[in-house]
Amino acid sequence: MARTYYIKTYGCQMNSHESEKLSGILSQRGYVEADSPENSDVVIFNTCCIRESAETHILGNLGIIKKAKERRPSMIVGVCGCMTQQSGAAEKLKKRCPFIDIIFGTHNLHKLSSYLDAAEHGKKVIDIWEEDNGIEEGLPVKRAGNICALVNIMYGCNNFCSYCIVPYVRGRERSRTPDNIFADVKSLIESGYKEITLLGQNVNSYSCDGVDFAELLDRLSDIKGEYWIKFLTSHPKDISEKVVSVISKKEHLAHFIHLPLQSGSDRILEMMNRKYTAREYLNKIEMIKSYLPDVGLSCDIMVGFPTETEEDFVQTLNVVEKVRYSNLYSFIYSQRKGTPADIMPQVPIEIKKERIDRLIKKQFSIANSIAAESIGKIYTVLCDGKENDNFIGKTQSDKKVIFTGSNSKVGEFSKVEITEANNSKLIGTEVR
Ligand code: SAH
Ligand code: SF4
Ligand code: F3S
Repeated sequence: MARTYYIKTYGCQMNSHESEKLSGILSQRGYVEADSPENSDVVIFNTCCIRESAETHILGNLGIIKKAKERRPSMIVGVCGCMTQQSGAAEKLKKRCPFIDIIFGTHNLHKLSSYLDAAEHGKKVIDIWEEDNGIEEGLPVKRAGNICALVNIMYGCNNFCSYCIVPYVRGRERSRTPDNIFADVKSLIESGYKEITLLGQNVNSYSCDGVDFAELLDRLSDIKGEYWIKFLTSHPKDISEKVVSVISKKEHLAHFIHLPLQSGSDRILEMMNRKYTAREYLNKIEMIKSYLPDVGLSCDIMVGFPTETEEDFVQTLNVVEKVRYSNLYSFIYSQRKGTPADIMPQVPIEIKKERIDRLIKKQFSIANSIAAESIGKIYTVLCDGKENDNFIGKTQSDKKVIFTGSNSKVGEFSKVEITEANNSKLIGTEVR
């Protein structure tokens, strides 16, 4: 019987895609994916440390794996990703969870096969690389789906926002060559993928072989086929008119931009080292809306950053009201060791909770009114699932749509007229 593996992924899409590479390496070694960790021969936790809650959750789940390994001592347990890459974290993890067989970081996941060689012979491995070794091309990838695909265009981050652990655990910015990206995207489209999401911590600083992000988008969207291209994440200081203008001209580029604001207070933005003011952010939004009147905007916002006052928070609410995001991801600021904000004066947790509740309430009513405005409109929807007799899909601005239709198929585009809005959920019928 084939040996089995299970990968539990935490964190962002970057991590989800890296798990697809781990899956690729395991499949090449003859392992078969299992649907639960309990009876797997190899269990890997691909971790995140963006907030303390992520780490607490992972440590809790490792406790469950410890029990599974007691019942099945031949199980190989591996932990990798951003959490293990933090300074001193691997040693601490080894002490706390001695049952773990392999600990590796974000710069050496391509070495998994050699770590398994050792672990299959009963050896423990801890291998954290302080620095990346450039970009590892050509790794096998076993994709989680066959409709939507993730493609890295760059790795790392140079921005050092004062609250953020990412630059410490993902290293400096480095971009893949336009030729390698083009080849990946072309082959995905030719094998039937309909949505390609380009990934980077700050896609607007993409730069390689004299090609910038706007030129990369322009080239990729020349590929023939039926598909749309999205990208994550844009930094408001770097998104340029050149990029937005390309999006407005090329039909394959989705009218959707995720533009994290973080805070609407200039004083807090300065302390965060974000390098823009609320006014500059709003000017970018206006520029985007002038090129793409139907654009879907989404955003990340953090509440309770050190020293944030009621007045600062109200400024955040004001920006949210002005922009009207279709999706908003809100977070409570979490202290991260080694970042400048960790030693700034902190806001009490009760105040943070009260603020996030108000932000969520405000967004709820905005998302509802945006959804209500969609009634009667016709959208192109990528159908990515089915539930009973209903199709489930998304618009190019990432709005979820539930619809009926006799010609629609999972994995294909349909034209859908919105007939009803249930909170922010859109309900519709296929039109021909
Ligand atoms: N590169 C992206 C975001 C990466 S992290 C960008 O610059 O926008 C995703 C989101 O997590 C961030 O946008 C931020 O809102 C949130 N985040 C990052 N560090 C955090 C922290 N210490 N506490 C709470 N939220 C945090
Ligand atoms: Fe973190 Fe800022 Fe880099 Fe985004 S841009 S990953 S928030 S440091
Ligand atoms: Fe992503 Fe979490 Fe790392 S958000 S980059 S997996 S710290």
